[in-house]
Amino acid sequence: MLNGEKKIARPLRWAMIGGGRLSQVGYKHRTGALRDNTAFQLVAGAFDIDPERGRDFGVNIGVKEDRCYSDYKTMFTEEKKREDGIEVVSIATPNGTHYEICKAALEADLHVICEKPLFFTSDEVLEIKKLAEEKGKIVGVTYGFSGNQMLLQMRAMIEKGDIGEIRMVELQYTHGFNATDEADKYSAAQKWRVDPKIAGSSFVLGDLSTHTYYMSQLIMPNMKISKLLCDRQSFIESRAPLEDNAYVLMHYENGAVGRLWTSSVNAGCMDGHRIRIVGSKASLEWWDSKPGELSYEIQGQPAQTLIRAMPYLDESCNADERLGALHVEGLSDSWANIYLKFAIAIDAKNRGDQEALDYLVYPDINAGLEGVRWIENCVRSADQGSTWVDFEYEQKTQLV
Ligand code: NAI
Repeated sequence: MLNGEKKIARPLRWAMIGGGRLSQVGYKHRTGALRDNTAFQLVAGAFDIDPERGRDFGVNIGVKEDRCYSDYKTMFTEEKKREDGIEVVSIATPNGTHYEICKAALEADLHVICEKPLFFTSDEVLEIKKLAEEKGKIVGVTYGFSGNQMLLQMRAMIEKGDIGEIRMVELQYTHGFNATDEADKYSAAQKWRVDPKIAGSSFVLGDLSTHTYYMSQLIMPNMKISKLLCDRQSFIESRAPLEDNAYVLMHYENGAVGRLWTSSVNAGCMDGHRIRIVGSKASLEWWDSKPGELSYEIQGQPAQTLIRAMPYLDESCNADERLGALHVEGLSDSWANIYLKFAIAIDAKNRGDQEALDYLVYPDINAGLEGVRWIENCVRSADQGSTWVDFEYEQKTQLV
């Protein structure tokens, strides 16, 4: 169980790029990173594309005015001159900026925590992976939902064989907030999401399903997709060629099959993620609307609901517990768990402790790479007329 005591020698000097006053995701980063003041300290930032608003915001949340920068390049240059300069930076800007900012951060000898989808192409990720290795730095990816400990419970139960051989995988991440084109007109965050130059080659496949795909890989690390078929469409025509809805059928190397539905036009839906894994003996199902519960259904027996923080859960699950039984946890705790693991990873990397890194389960650059490959393969299938394609692990792609 976590109680905020330090896991690393001292908190890391941390900065943010983006994540300012009007950003959707910035506060989630801060609730995660600053949950325990033993992991990160927010000491600098280039919080906004509008320098004045960014400075005003930074000062408002307690960052010294002279360390609220007008842009990330100035921040890297100025912070490098300081003895107490930043050590790690989080990138919470729109997708199309991630690659160039990440590269500049590594070149400035900083560890990086970056939003998903990591970059536009897997070639870009491979290039940055090489640079990070040369620099001895961590690149973490904020799959924010994946810090929920019940996912580790699913992983442990599958590993122990509690559900038998996996046969079917059912994944869903949908909402209905874009059922009309209203937000496309007034929301800056929605406008860039349907602009291929900024969002990349997909809308909901990248924006939503990269989370769910990573979570499925976290739960079932040995399950690799052999081929998939993706059908994507834009119910709001102005979003084309980017999709606001997609279905993906998957074949896994072990003979299992799966399907994923991702959508931002699932009118009225407020549930978000659903992950159901069906094995030869039993099934496990988790919904993020009830993040502390896991449904365990053994064929021929009454269904069970496993509840967070109980002693019957796996050690790996309860290790990420924060509040204890009877008290509600949720998405902020998931972000805090992920950020704590980023801090532990950065500390281990700084100390050259490869063994600690090998044991740590967290979304690293390989998880970012998998997410980008997932998008590439889905888009390739969809754009060939929704045909089955081999899931390619190394490929070059072109953006739309
Ligand atoms: P947004 O449009 O709401 O906010 C973007 C922010 O970045 C704004 O504050 C803007 O001023 C700032 N910005 C843009 N370019 C900048 C630059 N060059 N330098 C400094 N600041 C800059 O976007 P939103 O929804 O917050 O998404 C940002 C990223 O986070 C995207 O990659 C998105 O996919 C991801 N995201 C991830 C979520 C998660 O659960 N992990 C949830 C929501 C978004």
